[in-house]
Amino acid sequence: MSDSAFRVHAMELGPMENFVYLVEDIASRRCAVVDPAWEVGRIVERARQLDLRVTDILLTHSHHDHINGIEELLEHASAEVHLLKPEYEFWAHELDKPSLHHGGDEIELGETSIRILHTPGHTPGSACYQLGNEIITGDTLFVFGCGRCDLSGGSPEDMFVTLKNMKERLPQDMLIHPGHNYSVKPTSTLGEQIEGNPFMHYDDEAAFVNYRMHVHDRTRDEPYAALSRQQLKIANLL
Ligand SMILES: [Fe+2]
Repeated sequence: MSDSAFRVHAMELGPMENFVYLVEDIASRRCAVVDPAWEVGRIVERARQLDLRVTDILLTHSHHDHINGIEELLEHASAEVHLLKPEYEFWAHELDKPSLHHGGDEIELGETSIRILHTPGHTPGSACYQLGNEIITGDTLFVFGCGRCDLSGGSPEDMFVTLKNMKERLPQDMLIHPGHNYSVKPTSTLGEQIEGNPFMHYDDEAAFVNYRMHVHDRTRDEPYAALSRQQLKIANLL
């Protein structure tokens, strides 16, 4: 069916509906674990079942619920840890020889090329990982939602620019793999998000910032469903 070099396997783990992803390079049997956290035994077991060797760890950002399994996973596998340099500086945590990247860098996993995008907003060095026509978005973009911007290092102005860039630069049929299962469905396409993700409807930065910081959390509940531009207008929120 597909001629792509990789497969993405999702695991929902821990008490915060985190998605941990295993990226499988089909030819080499190498595996990159994205945001190892919570139940490392299950991650290791899944890799074993799939006959994969964990060689890389990719971090979307440094929040506890996305990184709390790194050390335990490294006891099972000698893997290279990748993250963006600005996130490493923000985190101020010692890692043993991490691979520090800039936005646009390519990471080679066997025959699979993974492009790391710098997508600040939730944290200063938040990253998305693009593989072919799929993208792992961490806490930047959720299905019908986006990451909060009120925590340390967050910036709703940066998030506005990040989402605008994603809208303008990525293909509409790109498949999204978010960092949490907060929606009525686990995955979506960028085109569906442009239609139904309220954070994609704002063209004005100040209005976006107001919605993200002061309105969203008291007007919507999980699981997030689609919200059209028209619905936002009718509710006087756009
Ligand atoms: Fe986060």
